[in-house]
Amino acid sequence: MNSIKLNKQIAEELEKISEAAGYMWQKGWIESNGGNLSADITHLLQEQEIDFKNLEIIKTQLPAGAENLIVLVTGKGCRLRELAKNPEKAACIIATNSNGDGYSIIWNGRNGMKPTSELASHLKIHVSNRQQKNGKSTVLHAHPPGLIALSHYSGADADKIPQMLWRMMPEVRIYLPKGILFLSYRTPGSSELADITAESLLNCDVAVWKKHGAVASGKDIIEAFDLIDVAEKGAQIYLSCLKSGIEPEGLSDAEMKDLEKFIA
Ligand code: 13P
Ligand code: ZN
Repeated sequence: MNSIKLNKQIAEELEKISEAAGYMWQKGWIESNGGNLSADITHLLQEQEIDFKNLEIIKTQLPAGAENLIVLVTGKGCRLRELAKNPEKAACIIATNSNGDGYSIIWNGRNGMKPTSELASHLKIHVSNRQQKNGKSTVLHAHPPGLIALSHYSGADADKIPQMLWRMMPEVRIYLPKGILFLSYRTPGSSELADITAESLLNCDVAVWKKHGAVASGKDIIEAFDLIDVAEKGAQIYLSCLKSGIEPEGLSDAEMKDLEKFIA
């Protein structure tokens, strides 16, 4: 059931989502139904009245501040790789209600499509972005294998991994100025995971869900993809060194200091 017309700007948003999905599939980050993404498109639909009276309301407690949002989001159990060719197979648009206790599917709700099981994380990050007025309107979660592999390490020096990733090549430090944060394991889809993720993204560019995946937010989905891509590149270089028997040196303190000056 479609209660809205897709305008040009939403069509463009879908095109970027398809593009990012193609990249993620090529990179092996979105096996089966792995990964999910969303875009807060509330501002793109303001001119269209949504007639909630004739829509089914799916009752669920929404995060505080997530009332009256319109969000393009991938479907629960959907294959993200299908977004690349046919977004209708894997995405829908939801409108949250003004009471904060439910949402309706206003585009592509047929065939039992429901939003991702990580909806709480997506909505909490969108609410946080709005509060921060940081211009970010998209959220991407994927399963990049290098970052996940590193997140399985819990030795005494595990807290040094984010610094080490910064030191793998200058661009990791330049492109991810707030760095990468490894969060302790939480159940997928839980509100605890959503809380800690939204909070952490205030202080990092990429949040890694231990033994699960990575999350980033960007002004568009390509920017969110780039953030995870750069973090994953650092992880792949680190792991390649270890696999080759090389203890990676990493940029030295002096080289990092010099880089800081260059960035400033
Ligand atoms: P969904 O199919 O519900 O989006 O779940 C995929 C996933 O990666 C959960 O973390
Ligand atoms: Zn996941």
